[in-house]
Amino acid sequence: MWWEIPKHLEVRNDTLFIAGKSTIELAQEYGTPLYVINADRIRANYQRLYSAVTKHLSKDRNFDINYAMKAHSGLAVLETLKEVGSHVDATSSFEVLTAEYVGFPKEKILYTGTSVKPEDMRITLGKAKMNIDSIGQIDRYAKLKDEEKFNPRVSIRINPGKGAGHVPECITAGKDAKYGVPEYQTIKAYKMAIDHGLEPVGIHCHIGSGILPPDIGTYYSAAETLLDLAGEVSKKLNIEFEFVDIGGGIGIPYKETDKPINMDIFGKKVAEIVESKADEHSLDNFTLKMEPGRYIVGNSEILLMAVVDVSDKYMLELGVDGGFNVFDRPARYNAYHEIVIANKADEEPKKDYRVSGNLCESGDVFTESKKTSRKLPFAEENDLIAILHVGAYGLSMASNYNMRGIPMEIMVDGGEQRITRERDTWEDLVFKQNF
Ligand code: LLP
Repeated sequence: MWWEIPKHLEVRNDTLFIAGKSTIELAQEYGTPLYVINADRIRANYQRLYSAVTKHLSKDRNFDINYAMKAHSGLAVLETLKEVGSHVDATSSFEVLTAEYVGFPKEKILYTGTSVKPEDMRITLGKAKMNIDSIGQIDRYAKLKDEEKFNPRVSIRINPGKGAGHVPECITAGKDAKYGVPEYQTIKAYKMAIDHGLEPVGIHCHIGSGILPPDIGTYYSAAETLLDLAGEVSKKLNIEFEFVDIGGGIGIPYKETDKPINMDIFGKKVAEIVESKADEHSLDNFTLKMEPGRYIVGNSEILLMAVVDVSDKYMLELGVDGGFNVFDRPARYNAYHEIVIANKADEEPKKDYRVSGNLCESGDVFTESKKTSRKLPFAEENDLIAILHVGAYGLSMASNYNMRGIPMEIMVDGGEQRITRERDTWEDLVFKQNF
């Protein structure tokens, strides 16, 4: 199978294995729905990106990966990444608190929010560096100047005027995007920051999510624009940038026909852009930052669900014991995810099934849309379904819709497995409320 990776996802005697563990045994031991994540895959993804870029950068240029924790903000995932030296990009004050709780020092946490209210900024003072999203936020942040732990050293998010992403909802720059300071206001924003007593040390952009070839060209072009803007700001306002953050967005293949990004070519191209623009604009020793989420965790995790019902309902319907509250990407974005019958992983696909969830909404399907089916081996009740590549924006977008619990998660690390998230109970859902 195209998605098999030795020691990560393997088919042995018709059974799907993850990190050397039988999915059938995991489902029997812990129940379903069940997320299973492989710590080694997270480390491998991190290292691959890190070395692909550093290999081509000039020797005295530092490179930081700011893992975008919105992709998966689990404590065990964060700890795994902390141990390999990652920094984090946090999008809310609670994400900042979580990164701090896991032990990331404040120098390694960048807080990139949007519609950020003073209370959120106040909570994060002394815990993270502020990456400002708008002209309005410059003013709101500067008003906190008298607070203890206020840090005037900030970065500003710029919208470089172009974006890319796997669906329009995931394009975060360009004319239709709500994020960042538009490129034509860059000088104004940095000047305003200085006039408000702030000390801008960084410049940032993030143009979208799920970017694969050929759209990756837009990522390179946005990085060029950002470095040109950095050059202009530096020259006109005499700012020496400590870092330039070119954002996340690196896509991963979800289906066989998705063309993956060649990491060596990617690293080389990014390094060439950075070094040539640094020369052109005489920008000296800034650190290059990137903030991938999906690339680091996307393919590290699977979701196991039990087949509850197989019936002919105009179309063959295979109903499982989780819905879009458990995994939202297919329902929300019509996103394609591989579906494997984990106990029949080597069997020939024979019949077309719509794989649907247990929520009371007709869009609650795992096969992209309610009109789409997937050819699978002959399916029966109590079979085990695995949805692949759910590590990014899976558990982190789960909800309690229909009063369904958020599932349990298991992490497999070095041959050992442990529960990294307990399954919600009915009490968890009810006793936070009052009559
Ligand atoms: N940095 C910023 C400022 C971001 O807004 C994002 C993602 C990232 C980094 C990480 O992007 P990544 O490397 O993971 O593509 N729920 C959607 C994705 C939304 C992404 C939002 N921003 C999905 O499931 O496709």
